[in-house]
Amino acid sequence: MKIKRIAISTGGGDAPGLNAVIRAVVLAANQRGWECVGIRDGYNGLLMPEQFPQGGLIALNRDRVRGITHLGGTILGTTNRGNPLHYPVLNADGVYEEIDRTDELVERFRAAGLDALIAIGGDGSLEIAYALAQKGLTVIGVPKTIDNDLDKTVATFGFHTAVAFATECTDRLHSTAESHQRVIVVEVMGRYAGWIALDTGVAGSADVILIPEIPYDINKAAEKIKERDRHGRDFSIVVVAEGARPVGGDFIIQGKAIGQAERLGGVGQQVASALQTLTGKEARVVVLGHLLRGGSPTAYDRLISLRFGAAAVRALAEVQSGIMVALDPPNVNYVPLAQVAGRMKQVPLDCDTILTARDLGVSFGD
Ligand code: F6P
Repeated sequence: MKIKRIAISTGGGDAPGLNAVIRAVVLAANQRGWECVGIRDGYNGLLMPEQFPQGGLIALNRDRVRGITHLGGTILGTTNRGNPLHYPVLNADGVYEEIDRTDELVERFRAAGLDALIAIGGDGSLEIAYALAQKGLTVIGVPKTIDNDLDKTVATFGFHTAVAFATECTDRLHSTAESHQRVIVVEVMGRYAGWIALDTGVAGSADVILIPEIPYDINKAAEKIKERDRHGRDFSIVVVAEGARPVGGDFIIQGKAIGQAERLGGVGQQVASALQTLTGKEARVVVLGHLLRGGSPTAYDRLISLRFGAAAVRALAEVQSGIMVALDPPNVNYVPLAQVAGRMKQVPLDCDTILTARDLGVSFGD
């Protein structure tokens, strides 16, 4: 089928670089004579059009994407509530249940005269993209997430910006921790993977890094802080991933709404309280949370976002479908969505960054 009109959707948590991908897709598609539209808020623009008085689809042309490469967020809007595979619907008896609306989505997509979809998202969005491809839609995925937890790509866009900002915050905490001889615990996002915490901790000279991949013994972390004290280093910086958990313990879950993923967070406070008790030092906690998702993408993230967007359009021009663009330096490659959907990439325990951290004397609480 000859492509004339393509759609872009941005799903899940936003990440710096989304707008750069959108711009690259629109410019590369326009050059080929294709029309582009954006679906509002994930797939809600098609599934819940009544929620959008201006229409659930936004026409995207050269003018509409001018000057957005450096902007955080997404001009299309996003949601982590509208997963068409698990769509929350209120029953007559007042109870929510999850239903699969992907068949309906495919019908509405075709009724809107759309020939192909570029789905920009993390694990959840790429699982949806895979399901839609299996139902016959022409789909190309683009790997987005600050968490960097997608398989088969060296990096996702958004991660570099999150680590750069978290590192700057950690740098700023050194002087106040040192002045007050305190332990400062920095909690960062990342879900069930420790990529953000690990890279931030090493780049930001943390003394202890706690990540989900290495369950921690808080006594070991406290021992590292006491050892520093004995050497006259009477302050410490601890970077904790929101998904970190003690040996034999579990993640701290803030909540789980129907149709949504678990919300993690709170381990930083737990670690700070325990370290205060065990070391006798005053401890404070800083939760960076959604600050990591905001702001302007770094040059690195802008570049990979633009490369991903252009490569996604080239893939459509080559009549590909059911694939994700992936960073494979020095190139961008294509991998089957089947190899990505539903898989999470955690930090390998023997990776060079962990070895480097250990060589620098960082404790992982193990
Ligand atoms: O996946 C990105 C992410 O920012 C995670 O690091 C975090 O756990 C989650 O999204 C938070 O999502 P929400 O937007 O629901 O607060």
